[in-house]
Amino acid sequence: MKLLCITTLLLVSQVTTQNTRYDGHEVLKIFPKTTNEASYVLDMVQKYGLDVWHVHHNDSSLDVKIWPTISSTVKQDLTNTRIPFFTWIKDIQSLIDQQFAPITSHINKRATQQFMFTVYHSFAQIEAYVASLSQDTGTGPSGDSIYSSNAVIGYTEENRQIHLVKISKPSNQAKKAIFVDGGIHAREWISPAFVLYLIDQLKYNPDQLQSVEDLVDTYDWYIVPVLNPDGYSYSFASDRLWRKNRRTNSGSTCHGVDLNRNFGYQWNPAIGGSTSACSDVFSGVSAFSEAESKAIRDYFASASNVDFISYLTVHSYGQMWLYPWGYTSALPNDYVDLDAAGNTARVAIRNRFNTRYTVGSSTNVLYSAAGGSDDYAKGGAGIKYSYTLELRDTGRYGFVLPESSIIPTCQETMDGVIAFANDLKVLP
Ligand code: ARG
Ligand code: ZN
Repeated sequence: MKLLCITTLLLVSQVTTQNTRYDGHEVLKIFPKTTNEASYVLDMVQKYGLDVWHVHHNDSSLDVKIWPTISSTVKQDLTNTRIPFFTWIKDIQSLIDQQFAPITSHINKRATQQFMFTVYHSFAQIEAYVASLSQDTGTGPSGDSIYSSNAVIGYTEENRQIHLVKISKPSNQAKKAIFVDGGIHAREWISPAFVLYLIDQLKYNPDQLQSVEDLVDTYDWYIVPVLNPDGYSYSFASDRLWRKNRRTNSGSTCHGVDLNRNFGYQWNPAIGGSTSACSDVFSGVSAFSEAESKAIRDYFASASNVDFISYLTVHSYGQMWLYPWGYTSALPNDYVDLDAAGNTARVAIRNRFNTRYTVGSSTNVLYSAAGGSDDYAKGGAGIKYSYTLELRDTGRYGFVLPESSIIPTCQETMDGVIAFANDLKVLP
C-alpha cells in the first residue's frame, strides 16, 4: 500500500512539479490595423521579450503570451494606442493542468498491444517504444512483412540519442524515400505524438488499410520521432512552454538555441531569428552550431545513395502545410508542384473532420524566418517536396493541446500524408 502511494506520487510528480508555472499568464490576441500599429506591437514584443505564439494571416492578428506583472501595462499601452486586443487564454497554467484530463471519447485500439497513442509520452517512454520496434515485423493487408530498423544519428549536449527509424518493405525496385522529423520545438508535443502514430501505422497498419500499405510499397520512410530530446525532456520536467534545445550559451545564463533558426541555408539571425541567447528564437552563434541540426545535415550528406523525394518536418500550431522559402518572400521555381501537393493534403485533411489548413510558402502565409530545416532540406539537401506541417490547433489551446485531441489530429494528418504521398507519384 505504501509502495503504491509512492509510485503513484512519482508518476504524478512527472507532470505536476514542473518548476516553471504559468499561473495568470495570458495569451492576448492582438489586431494591429496598420503597419504603424504592427510595428508598435513588434516593438512591444522586443521591449518586454514577449513570446509570439502565432501570427494569423487571415485576420492579421497575433497571439502573444504575457505574464501577470506586465499584464496591466501592456493592456494599457494597447488601449492608449487604440490597438484592438482581447484576452484569448486567461490562465495558461489551468490549460497545462487540464491537458492530461482523462479521455472518454476516443478509444485507442492498440493501447494494450504496443503503445498508447492517446497520451503524451516522456522521452524515456518514446525511447522504449522505439527500441521495441526492432523486435518484430509488421504486416499489411497483403500479408507481406514490413521491416524497421533503428539508428542513432547524433547525440545532444545532455547526451541523449537522436533516433532514426527506417521503415521499409523489401522489393527489387529502387524506391524513393520520405524523411519525417518531429519535436524540433520542445513544447509542440503533438508533433512527436503524430510522428510515433505515423511509425505505428506504416509498420503495423492496425486498420489493415491498403492505402497505408501503398505508402510502404512506394516509399522507404526515414523518421526521427524527437529531434530535440533535451528540449522535449525539459518541457516535461521543468517548463511546459520551452521551445529551444538546452545548449549552454557561453557568456549568458540563458539556455538554448532555436533549432529551426540554426540550419545552414541562407542562415541569417536578422530574418526572424535573434543574436540574443535569451531570445526564444536565438539562431545560435553560427549556422549548424547545434548537434541536432548538424545530425540532420550529416545524415543527408551520408545518405547520398537514398533518393529522398520529400522532407516533412512536423510542428504545431496553426494548421498549415508550408513550403519554402522561409528566408525570403520569393517562391521556389517549382513552387507550383509544391503548392499542388500541399493542397492535395489540405483537402484530405478537411475531408476527415473539416479541419481547415492553409497552404503556401512559409514567408507568405506565416512570417519570414531564416535557418529553418525545410529551407535547408530543399536548398541545401536538394529534396524537392520539403514542407513544414503546423498541426492543430489555431490557438484555442495552442501548444497545450489536450490529450483528447491527439487521436483526431493524428487521424486527419495521416489522411493528409496518404493523399500527399499518392500525389507525388503523379507530380513531376
Ligand atoms: N513555426 C515555424 C517556426 O517559426 C515555422 C517555420 C517555417 N519555415 C521556415 N523556414 N521559416 O520555426
Ligand atoms: Zn515549431
